[in-house]
Amino acid sequence: MGERNYILVTGGAGYIGSHTAVELMASGFDVLVADNLSNSHEEVIGRIGEIAGRTPVFEKVDLCDKASTDALFDAYGISAVIHFAALKAVGESVEQPLRYYRNNLLSLINVLGACGRTGVESFVFSSSCTVYGQPDSLPVGETAPVKEAESPYGSTKKMSEEILADATRQNTLRAVSLRYFNPVGAHHSALIGEYPIGKPSNLMPVITRVAAGKLPGLEVFGDDYPTPDGTCIRDYIHVMDVAAAHVVALERLLKREGQPFEVYNLGTGKGHSVLEMVHAFRDRTGVDIAYTIGPRRPGDIEQVWADVGKIRKVMGWKAQYGLGEMIDTAWQWEQALETLEPGISRGGGE
Ligand code: NAD
Ligand code: UD1
Repeated sequence: MGERNYILVTGGAGYIGSHTAVELMASGFDVLVADNLSNSHEEVIGRIGEIAGRTPVFEKVDLCDKASTDALFDAYGISAVIHFAALKAVGESVEQPLRYYRNNLLSLINVLGACGRTGVESFVFSSSCTVYGQPDSLPVGETAPVKEAESPYGSTKKMSEEILADATRQNTLRAVSLRYFNPVGAHHSALIGEYPIGKPSNLMPVITRVAAGKLPGLEVFGDDYPTPDGTCIRDYIHVMDVAAAHVVALERLLKREGQPFEVYNLGTGKGHSVLEMVHAFRDRTGVDIAYTIGPRRPGDIEQVWADVGKIRKVMGWKAQYGLGEMIDTAWQWEQALETLEPGISRGGGE
């Protein structure tokens, strides 16, 4: 094994992975992105390079394929892994449960197997506040019980954390699982952002698409919840804050600090309702969002926001950006996408 130069960022062409790659490179790390592009575009790699001043190494790999995953680990000296690769559409996971279990669990098992075989000991995992379900008390802390999953997607996150806990008991692997609340926004350059293949279902991309005239209006999923304005409450966090937390978690692992397996909430600690988000968007951008009130969305949690005391105390990390920057950058990115998307849909045919 040669020198271990690279941080492997699986799913690094995706939304959170691409922003994290930028932060890693800004902190001096060399980044190797492995992604099968099932929900992302290869041109994102060049854009990461444009922002960071150097381009990450990119390998198109399906991590569900054990031989390709092993070959990747044999070809590069890898010092740590940040594992973003997963399918993440909750509704789709209900329709295609086996696809979700196969993709999200096999890729994790293959990557962990390759780590064990090649002696990679530091691992950061993308988990979700979905593991808490509707918490019994708020804000929710890491010691709150993990509840029965609402969807196969949620189930893969819960099972992945169990796999990691077992794997770190068995060998020298150390892992941090970051339980994201609701990442939104984009890099301030508007060169990268949330750029999935297909229709968005999350609130912020729907709001910005309505603002851009690409969707007729937002359907608010229920206004009869026992919250102040009747709509659901979430802890929205800027994606660059999420990215920065990964660098801090990685540095902790590389210093071999803490327990072999640790979990942390990644949020701001503040909750906002759906209608608060709609009004904040209008106040910030001057663009009105047409909306209708629809029925509740099955599986939605009524309200959740994070207790962020643990990550602050242990890692000294806290969110830097407020709702204003989340909205500004999401909106700038949506407007940048307008000029980008026609080019993409023309593909290589011209
Ligand atoms: P994303 O879809 O933009 O990125 C995931 C990337 O992984 C994509 O580029 C996709 O092509 C790639 N990928 C998927 N399966 C793969 C495979 N088998 N082999 C190689 N690459 C594969 O999603 P994101 O929003 O950036 O999410 C990243 C991670 O964070 C996921 O694990 C997701 O479940 C988790 N997460 C996201 C959110 C959120 O709101 N975005 C919230 C909680 C947790
Ligand atoms: C969802 C997932 C969660 C996952 C996260 C990231 C569910 C139940 N949960 O979180 O497991 O980790 O995405 O992918 O799907 N809303 C509307 N109208 C819309 C869209 C959303 O009113 O068109 C509301 C929702 O009801 C919710 C809030 O906006 O109250 C946020 O929704 P969304 O962005 O989809 O995130 P979550 O549901 O919190």
